[in-house]
Amino acid sequence: MNMNQLKKSAAVQAAKFVEDGMMLGLGTGSTVYYLVEAVAKRVQEEKLHIVAVSTSSRTAKQASELGIKVIDLNDAPTLDLTIDGADEIDENFQGIKGGGAAHLLEKIVATNSKRNIWIVDQSKLVKKLGSFPLPLEVIPFGCEKLFQRLTAENLHPEYRLDENGQRLRTHNKNFVIDLHMSAIEHPHILADWLDHQTGIVEHGLFLDIVNQVVVGKENGVEIINAPR
Ligand code: A5P
Repeated sequence: MNMNQLKKSAAVQAAKFVEDGMMLGLGTGSTVYYLVEAVAKRVQEEKLHIVAVSTSSRTAKQASELGIKVIDLNDAPTLDLTIDGADEIDENFQGIKGGGAAHLLEKIVATNSKRNIWIVDQSKLVKKLGSFPLPLEVIPFGCEKLFQRLTAENLHPEYRLDENGQRLRTHNKNFVIDLHMSAIEHPHILADWLDHQTGIVEHGLFLDIVNQVVVGKENGVEIINAPR
């Protein structure tokens, strides 16, 4: 099976956790693409009443086009469940997200949700976080000073570029700096430090957030409960 088939199998399985009447958070990315398809199919076939909040315009567009009602987070009651992808998940169920530069909106939605499920293919499960560069969404004003500070801390920052070689702009017109650290020994300590650097709007460490991970594997789909 190729990677996309594994992503799809995890997404289709996770769509089964959606229940009638739910207020649902929808993540962003190639795995969530399959999830939105699968949820829309259930909404249509089973006549489910689902209202969703989206973490990107991409997902919102896809969901609306497929007949899922999408509303603004500000107009939504507490979300029952959010399903999203992830870039890395370690053995303690801590994660890195933001490969699609949507981690700010994703974290806002995740932290306003009663339950969070991540859907991934098996390659995303790692012993230690950090092989995947850690994304930071940063305010353009004064970002060179922040960049210098990150360099001085040996965090190996690099601006993320778009397809035209320009600095990528997020949904909120900020830049993304990726930290190429290869291994993150203490995710909580790093998260705490990053939380205190003015100019960083949000980082891609998603700690103590996920409740369940649905993994597409060669030999089937595994559902793993996080101990929280
Ligand atoms: C978007 O910014 C990310 O957090 C995605 O959720 C993550 O990159 C997973 O993406 P894929 O499902 O495309 O691998």
